Amino acid sequence: MSSIDFTQALASGARSYDRHVGRWWVQRTSSAAHAEAYVNIARYVARHARKRSGLLVDYACGAGLLTRQLVAALPRWRFLGIDGSRAMLRFAEAWARRREPGSPAALEFRLAKLPDFALPMHKADLVVFAFPNIITGAGERRHFEKIYGKDSVLARLLAAKREQAGAHVLYDQLFMNRMIARNLRWLLRKGGLCVRVDYSQGSRHELERCDRVATVFEEGSLSAGQGGRKPEKFFDLLYARYYPSDVIRDVYEQTGDEDFLEGGYSVSLLRAI
Ligand SMILES: C[S@@+](CC[C@H](N)C(=O)[O-])C[C@H]1O[C@@H](n2cnc3c(N)ncnc32)[C@H](O)[C@@H]1O
Repeated sequence: MSSIDFTQALASGARSYDRHVGRWWVQRTSSAAHAEAYVNIARYVARHARKRSGLLVDYACGAGLLTRQLVAALPRWRFLGIDGSRAMLRFAEAWARRREPGSPAALEFRLAKLPDFALPMHKADLVVFAFPNIITGAGERRHFEKIYGKDSVLARLLAAKREQAGAHVLYDQLFMNRMIARNLRWLLRKGGLCVRVDYSQGSRHELERCDRVATVFEEGSLSAGQGGRKPEKFFDLLYARYYPSDVIRDVYEQTGDEDFLEGGYSVSLLRAI
């Protein structure tokens, strides 16, 4: 169990990954459970890549250990790893420099605070977003509320349905996760694929109805009207599968909640509409 106070550390923003949270993550990400998950995810992505070559974006790539497996699985592709932490990218660039000379895949890492709509639009064939922990602030939320007012209304409605006391915290989460999904869609060309990997404690169909609706709203695949308002659907959900894995202990270490001693991760495949 880590000695870091994550509530305090993450409250200092995305830069916390440049300090002790980053050191903790590098340690976690180097575990056998993560190594196995990254190989599994990369194989899954390669099976669905459909093309011999293209551009793959690893969104919030962190120390790049998944990127590394993706490069090995798709040697003819081009790769762009994006992250907001200089320390994480230094780590990723270090292994990229040590690659075999003549390794065919073109690989670039970029520093960016996500979600970022200044990134190239509709260029990627595949976007991978794994083990998310995107930290955003109230300023960004207010900025996006002005642009995506309809999403904000729907997020408020869904949050109020599920929670009384903590509705504003849930609203923040629903709204900003949807902004991230919009950013993933922004990067993809029409028909491009998004592979999301989320910490999970079971299959989607085991979720309660309201949690399922919240999940599909966040990821952009919800089409059913809510409270007389129709959400914009920008992804089709093609497939989702749950894998039991000790990676769930990342969540236990962050929260101290013993419920997260068991679980795994889910892989979802979405097509950009
Ligand atoms: C839990 S790690 C996951 C890393 C990687 N996807 C993996 O599976 O190994 C979360 C990553 O998100 C990055 N991150 C958090 N908030 C961010 C933000 N607002 N903008 C850009 N990156 C952010 C962190 O720097 C960290 O590398």
